[in-house]
Amino acid sequence: MAQFWKPGTEKPDAQVVDDEEGGVLFLPGSNSLSSSGYGYASIEKQRQRLPVYKYRTAILYLVETHATTIIVGETGSGKTTQIPQYLIEAGWAAGGRLIACTQPRRLAVQAVSSRVAQEMGVKLGDQVGYTIRFEDVTKQDETVLKFVTDGVLLREMMNDPLLTKYSVIMVDEAHERSISTDILLGLLKKIQRRRPELRLIIASATIEAKSMADFFRPRKKRREPETEENGLKVEPAILSVEGRGFNVQINFAEEPFHDYIQAAVSTVLSIHERESTGDVLVFLTGQDDIDAAAHLLNEDIQTNRKHSGLVVLPLYSGLPRADQELVFSPAPRGKRKVVISTNIAETSLTLEGIVYVVDSGFSKQRFYNPVSDIENLVVAPISRASARQRAGRAGRVRPGKCYRLYTEEYFLSHMSVEGIPEIQRSNLVSCVIQLKALGIDNILGFDWPASPSPEAMIRALEVLYSLAILDDDAKLTSPTGFQIAEIPLDPMISKMIIASSQLGCTEEILTIAAALSVQSIWISGRGIQKESDEAKLRFAAAEGDHVTFLNVYKGFHLSRKSSQWCHKHFVNYHAMKKVVEVREQLKKIAQRIGLVLKSCDSDMQVVKKAVTAGFFANACRLEPYSPDGMYKTLRGSEEVYIHPSSVLFRVNPKWVIFNSLVSTDRKYMRNVMTIDPSWLLEAAPHFYQLQKPNLLH
Ligand code: CDP
Ligand code: MG
Repeated sequence: MAQFWKPGTEKPDAQVVDDEEGGVLFLPGSNSLSSSGYGYASIEKQRQRLPVYKYRTAILYLVETHATTIIVGETGSGKTTQIPQYLIEAGWAAGGRLIACTQPRRLAVQAVSSRVAQEMGVKLGDQVGYTIRFEDVTKQDETVLKFVTDGVLLREMMNDPLLTKYSVIMVDEAHERSISTDILLGLLKKIQRRRPELRLIIASATIEAKSMADFFRPRKKRREPETEENGLKVEPAILSVEGRGFNVQINFAEEPFHDYIQAAVSTVLSIHERESTGDVLVFLTGQDDIDAAAHLLNEDIQTNRKHSGLVVLPLYSGLPRADQELVFSPAPRGKRKVVISTNIAETSLTLEGIVYVVDSGFSKQRFYNPVSDIENLVVAPISRASARQRAGRAGRVRPGKCYRLYTEEYFLSHMSVEGIPEIQRSNLVSCVIQLKALGIDNILGFDWPASPSPEAMIRALEVLYSLAILDDDAKLTSPTGFQIAEIPLDPMISKMIIASSQLGCTEEILTIAAALSVQSIWISGRGIQKESDEAKLRFAAAEGDHVTFLNVYKGFHLSRKSSQWCHKHFVNYHAMKKVVEVREQLKKIAQRIGLVLKSCDSDMQVVKKAVTAGFFANACRLEPYSPDGMYKTLRGSEEVYIHPSSVLFRVNPKWVIFNSLVSTDRKYMRNVMTIDPSWLLEAAPHFYQLQKPNLLH
């Protein structure tokens, strides 16, 4: 491995830039506010050691005097866990008001809220709580600080458009530019005009603070005063919290690696053999990769005594609670922790004790093609900004090292400087429904932090029209459109649920909807493929994966939700428990919006029709004479294949619809069901009218 050394960075002094003119300057250590009185001294000490602590007074002053405060600070400086506590201590939660802190990721919401509850010495769910989709751990009249995903806050706006409960809303991880964060920023800017007393804090690790400030800066008319009547400055304040990261030595691969999972595994082992103590953080792309790497490492650890000091811990969303806690606790004495993570550990979560970072250079990203109307999750190169963030994770406790599994040439010539905001590479269907439900009709004219492409917007309107969610005037239809807006799922799934009410198979479809909302109900991984495939055959239905879910769910219930039963059949117990929970929530929502709850017993034809009513746009036909099972989508003639995890893999029925696509070397359909092509015309006549001749053979 070649080694390239990066010069150390000087840490400038504390600085507060009040506005463009750069007026006020605060010096560190000027904090005179009393301590919180929560928790134990050791926690209090830990809190005071965090970089944001020096800025406590400055932050509170800026929030008091400015409508919007933008806070930029390195990961781990204490933004997420400390600032909301400062706000409580300064009285922003007095008089029945609430403070919200948003995160793009669910796992981060859970992890940081439990940390803050612990720091404050309160039970999670009492004063400090969290809400993520399908899970509300808050108490009315008691919770004053709520951690939420930005999607949840958007949903709250449907009942309370001005978010009147909240005195301060902190939009965290703004640099991620998730689609929900961008929608939220646009809406909050609107709310601010109606609620001048509302304070916004935009926090991020690397944000281009200036462009965010430009976005929140009111368009100035000549000679308009900068200060509103109540003394509040409308000009956003920018505060940069200097971190205290140590130098990280960067090592690039001399030659490109062909298998980054294997490369990551060997790099971890060679770090363990050659380097002094300190934990390792490996960045891979998703659960499949992570499980594969963990499996390889564990195999090695079992056979090679030299490596027995390694403890391997995966980290990805959907990880059960108990496993999450292990990731955050220190390694047992004399052991070295290896955390293998998605990019959630890039900025959302701070792990103490990391000294070595192994960066695959990839992450799973959403890409949408408005021409073919296909959105898929693609393993794609990260940006240089992300690579820097990842490397930075090695310098938290002492100088560290980062091993990049790509060459420097690749870094410089193939990786973009910054990532593209998600809204510019996503299907906009859900986003349009949400804005429409909030009464925002002119969506193209909406004030976006980054505008989505008009093609994608038009495509979304078309799809919504074909799903009968929008009418000819581009308004939500009644009741379908409004009902769908109430269901916090992909509109195609929501449409399937609505159709099931008419077709008399709600009970079955709610199970399918819940199963589709977890990553996978199966246990998989290298080394157990054969056994898990055989187990799957016991439940496999000729109709495909959706009906197979129903069989597994039935079996799980008959076993009285037994974990042994799951183990025996290679079914993921935690995923099944989640399915039961989500199904319960969906049932409540279905009842609330007036759907008829009914079972169709064994009539799978109606179940399939309901699925088709939602997913007709994902119809595909097997290419005649294709030796390797190639399908083409009816809409865009995209080449796709059935994913090996599907029960229809190698069965290759002529007509299928799928739930989602994943791309690796090819585009694979996940969760596939057989259909009768005539149903497509029934489900969406306007959508498939032009294709009529095609559907007949
Ligand atoms: O938001 P930011 O990246 O600036 O930092 P933070 O998440 O507030 O983290 C501040 C400190 O809290 C770090 O030292 C973390 O290690 C610690 N923390 C923790 O120990 N456990 C958590 N679940 C979250 C944070
Ligand atoms: Mg944070």
